[in-house]
Amino acid sequence: TVADPMAAREDGRRFAHHTRREIAEQPEALAATDAALKGLALPPDVVACDRFTVIACGSSLFAGATAREAIERAAGVTVDLEIASEFRDRAAPPRGIAILISQSGETADTIAAMARFRAAGLSTIGMVNVRESVIGRTAELVWPISAGQEIGVAATKSFTAQLLALMRFGIALGEARGTGDAAFRTRLARALDDLPRICTEAEAMEPIARILAERIAGEEEALFIGRGWGAALAQEGALKLKELSYIRAEGYPSGELKHGPIAVIREGSPVIVCTPGDAGQAKVLANASAVAARGAHLVALTDVGGAEAAAATAAETITMPGDALVAPFAQAVFLQLLAYHTAVVLGHDVDRPRNLAKSVTVE
Ligand code: G6P
Repeated sequence: TVADPMAAREDGRRFAHHTRREIAEQPEALAATDAALKGLALPPDVVACDRFTVIACGSSLFAGATAREAIERAAGVTVDLEIASEFRDRAAPPRGIAILISQSGETADTIAAMARFRAAGLSTIGMVNVRESVIGRTAELVWPISAGQEIGVAATKSFTAQLLALMRFGIALGEARGTGDAAFRTRLARALDDLPRICTEAEAMEPIARILAERIAGEEEALFIGRGWGAALAQEGALKLKELSYIRAEGYPSGELKHGPIAVIREGSPVIVCTPGDAGQAKVLANASAVAARGAHLVALTDVGGAEAAAATAAETITMPGDALVAPFAQAVFLQLLAYHTAVVLGHDVDRPRNLAKSVTVE
């Protein structure tokens, strides 16, 4: 346990805040999570299931949303998403198997949602960082993350560790079931092995995040957009910025912009676009051009494969390390650094933002 962010790490680095230190700890958190998952087997009822419901709150929910696409493709199953505080009061009978994602394992709404599955005699999978927590002790299967203690209120290393654990779950499930896209599983598994390096390189983009943060700090609002996993990551990027900088931020699926949100765009509105260089890129860039045409200042977050197309549309292009398969991780690190530095510029208490708690144990 490191109680002091200024305590020297093995590599000699010291940090002004826990949050910043935890951003830097992602390579270790990911390697430790992989080690914790090694050798874990999926029980027969999980292998037989083709419909899963991810239930969570906050960043844990957005981790589920970001990884959904990879799980569905790797395993050929359906993954539904539910906000725990909403799901707990639904009348609809639970179906399939629930995946409860919770860093603390103590979030009241997630525990209540879990109870609905258990009352219906259905299995639950707990994805927790704290094994001794309520969810860690109660779930039929614990598919853990091992991010180490997270002190900063805003989730950072637990978010990417959850993404990794979810994607490994999808790969293991597809292999066990013999369903899903086998070639994708092979490529994804190999890409995930390289994550500690990717996250180290992503963290090295900090000077660019800081420059952008200085500008965002002068804004009253920011919009984050993307498609597929990029839409979910856009929501996480907006949440991080709100939590740490208190700037109004919204994350939106880019295809939905024309149904309302584009009305808020004015000359110079900052719009951050999560746009990986994959098959979906043309669509998200088409949506992004529509906001640029209304005066938005587009900042594209992409990878080497997507950089050329992104640069043709956006005012600024930030090319993260790694390919489109690891882009959710690389972009998450950048968005964390962006939120962190915006808060630092504004002089906020980064580790303990106003009005927020690390673990919400009340309804
Ligand atoms: C609080 C924290 C968030 C976290 C959410 C869910 O709101 O401030 O950072 O994402 O709870 O917490 P959990 O422990 O269930 O992942």
